[in-house]
Amino acid sequence: MQNAGFRELKTDILVIGAGGAGLRAAIEAHDAGAGVAVVSKSLLGKAHTVMAEGGIAASIADVDADDDWKAHFSDTFAEGAYLGDWKMIEILVKEAPDRVYELEQYGALFDRTPSGKIMQRAFGGHTYKRLCHIGDRTGLEIIRVLEDQVLHRRIQVLDETVITKLVVSAGKVVGAVGLEYITGNFIAISCKAVILASGGCGRLYKTTSNSLESTGDGLALAYDAGCALVNMEMVQFHPTGMVYPESVKGLLVTEGVRGEGGILLNNKGERFMKRYSPNRMELDARDVVARAIYNEILKGNGTEHGGVYLDIAHKGAAFIKKKLPAMYDQFKDFADIDITRQKMEVAPTVHYHMGGVKVDAETCATNVKGLYAAGEVTGGLHGANRLGGNSLADILVFGRWAGIWGARYALQSKAENKEIIMAQLRNEIKRINSYLAVGGKAAAHADGKFRIYELSDTLRQAMNENVEIVRNAKGLRNAMKILEDVKIKINTVKIPGTTKYNRGLLARMELENQLIVAECIIRSAIERKESRGAHFRSDFPKKDRKWLKWIICKKKNGRLALYASKLKQIPKRLSFVKKEKYARGAK
Ligand code: FUM
Repeated sequence: MQNAGFRELKTDILVIGAGGAGLRAAIEAHDAGAGVAVVSKSLLGKAHTVMAEGGIAASIADVDADDDWKAHFSDTFAEGAYLGDWKMIEILVKEAPDRVYELEQYGALFDRTPSGKIMQRAFGGHTYKRLCHIGDRTGLEIIRVLEDQVLHRRIQVLDETVITKLVVSAGKVVGAVGLEYITGNFIAISCKAVILASGGCGRLYKTTSNSLESTGDGLALAYDAGCALVNMEMVQFHPTGMVYPESVKGLLVTEGVRGEGGILLNNKGERFMKRYSPNRMELDARDVVARAIYNEILKGNGTEHGGVYLDIAHKGAAFIKKKLPAMYDQFKDFADIDITRQKMEVAPTVHYHMGGVKVDAETCATNVKGLYAAGEVTGGLHGANRLGGNSLADILVFGRWAGIWGARYALQSKAENKEIIMAQLRNEIKRINSYLAVGGKAAAHADGKFRIYELSDTLRQAMNENVEIVRNAKGLRNAMKILEDVKIKINTVKIPGTTKYNRGLLARMELENQLIVAECIIRSAIERKESRGAHFRSDFPKKDRKWLKWIICKKKNGRLALYASKLKQIPKRLSFVKKEKYARGAK
């Protein structure tokens, strides 16, 4: 059945994504005097930001007086395996404290020290106790207060709307086209600037902490618009996700558990981290701990459900219920485990993507005029491995800058001729309607041969099995073969129903995006012939200084082209940073 209803919207700035980065950008752009509309693929408040549970990293030194931005810089740059954009890191670590104080002004209720300062906890790879937190619900509290600010400003939010195309004219973004799937109507948005804050792509994998919405749509939109994507091979596996029951496999078990004293044990009761990281133990960086758990499981030292044990029971019930209330509830409700008495079973889960849209460090501008980006959709800041808590700092620091620069640009720009946008709208209506089965046949696979959910499952399984914590050329090529096959089969899929609230249609559109993003990840992973941070190649197990560069993905003549780009020398003022070592192989 065809559906061609549409409506038009005009605004100065379109923000795509209603997670922390999008909301913070919207607040700033609005306060600068720009008209703002925020598009949310789901509902306001339901953002992946809430999955950053354990805290926001900022060197406010309320708990460890020796902490400062330099220490935060060193940790971030070194644990990102020296691949991070030092300019972005410097901005991040210097401004993170102000964003924490701002959250307080917005009404966030941080946990307190006995003397009333902000409580900070330890996290992997951070030299000092640096994570300001609200129990283990930090991301949730951040979204709550940002949402409040957005609602009070009466910023327009379009729920359950998906952007399917950015309209670019003469190298400049002038609008976007989307589908309000709650009504089934298309939407043509004319704007002067777009801020992309659509989050990551964890749903490309079967085992992930990411919410349903994290299908990499923003990455695909940016790629299609001509943006450069960087470090796409760098996928973060959080060391601890739930392993059972199957329905919650991959659900995050916050690093806060280890930060508060939780220990990892194998099936022999051995605290195995002492073999992998004798000094830092459970609080080494995520890539190190995730690989250690992966190895233990592979060696047959895993638990009944295929994980390792995480134990915090020794801290006592009162402490656990106060510090980790969400974890207590989560295990009780889903697995019937009382973590104040029993061990948890955990295994690595895909949590974050360090790769993404290349942006200017200061302005968050992409290489397409008028298009800005912030948060997980961007790449470069975290290098080859992100430290826990740095993503919450990232979304607030760079969300704010994207709002400032997006508004500056929009307020001195003119709206484009609307006909360009209407022409794209017509194309999109035709394209998306062509995915629907003629006559709205009721069969799940209608007149196509394959079911959309089977195809996305095939891709996710291929990513899980071949593009995992440890990769090699053979597996990566296999993933590419499966991807090429899915690319052909998707064209035969027809979805029954209309454009109105059609989950199948949404899955079809998402899979198109996922195929683009997966190809960038796999081909970049094949290209990087070394092991660095989260990217560990069993066939190239050492870090290689030749590869101290970014791999860039860009659309060229309709196809994916890869380039390598050397990193800028770190300036003298930042020379306090720990030096990179190569002798011991990959970190
Ligand atoms: O483990 C966690 O609470 C996650 C935090 C993060 O990803 O920053």
